[in-house]
Amino acid sequence: MKRKILAIVGSNNKNSITNFLTRETLKRIETLDESYETKVIFLRDYKVDYCVGCSTCFDKGFCPIDKCDDFTKIRRALLESHIVFFASPVYFHNISGVMKTFADRIFSSSHLMNYAGRLGFTMITAMDSGQELVREYMKKMQSNIGIKNLDSFVFTKKKDTIEEFIETSAVRFLNSIGNNYGYTNRVLEDYFGYYQNYHNILIDKHIAVGQLEHEWSYWNQAWIKECKSFQEFAAKNRRMQGVKSNGGINL
Ligand SMILES: Cc1cc2nc3c(=O)[nH]c(=O)nc-3n(C[C@H](O)[C@H](O)[C@H](O)COP(=O)(O)O)c2cc1C
Repeated sequence: MKRKILAIVGSNNKNSITNFLTRETLKRIETLDESYETKVIFLRDYKVDYCVGCSTCFDKGFCPIDKCDDFTKIRRALLESHIVFFASPVYFHNISGVMKTFADRIFSSSHLMNYAGRLGFTMITAMDSGQELVREYMKKMQSNIGIKNLDSFVFTKKKDTIEEFIETSAVRFLNSIGNNYGYTNRVLEDYFGYYQNYHNILIDKHIAVGQLEHEWSYWNQAWIKECKSFQEFAAKNRRMQGVKSNGGINL
């Protein structure tokens, strides 16, 4: 079975260099190692509406907007992946608006660590400022939803050359995967510890019954409560989501 890489590219520019560099890097990875299969979701080509802040996702476990736009396809592609790239240009020292809309729609997964059992990378393009902030932010986006971030590839138009960037990123990617063990790190274990104690935290915060009901019952499931670590949770999570192969990740 192939190792599936999914890239989410957050640019609205039809000639997006972020999209170009992401696609070319993934193509290069496929050439260097044929065990990989790649897919790119260029958000410009998808209908992704703004989050309206209704909080149904937190309380009931679904997003009412999913049935009106393409977000279900994106969630499904994420679930089917082994490795996830988030790619964004730097706009005003931050991620692009398109990427932020994606972030807001996926945010409820950060309270569930839904994508545990996947490895992550980020790709950032900029003229030459704000890239550090965006790198840290997208790394946090991945960690919060349960993805173990392994590396970030930053392209600055002022300093970098396209061919070298693609080659270096592809080689660094393969080295990162080869040297990685497991789905976990310290940050993910800490988040998981927090959510295992979620009941008590919600009680302390005087969260009303019914509010956050879905999250409450999610973390109360026996199979999750039995997990002694995020690593154990991540491996089980993949199986619960029906993803049979682990994509050749060293465990
Ligand atoms: C609205 C806007 C804001 C930008 N802000 C920054 C910035 O803060 N720092 C920077 O280095 N480059 C900035 N840039 C340049 C882009 O990050 C850069 O051109 C990027 O590679 C564009 O990627 P794209 O073609 O995929 O959209 C900005 C570009 C635009 C259009």
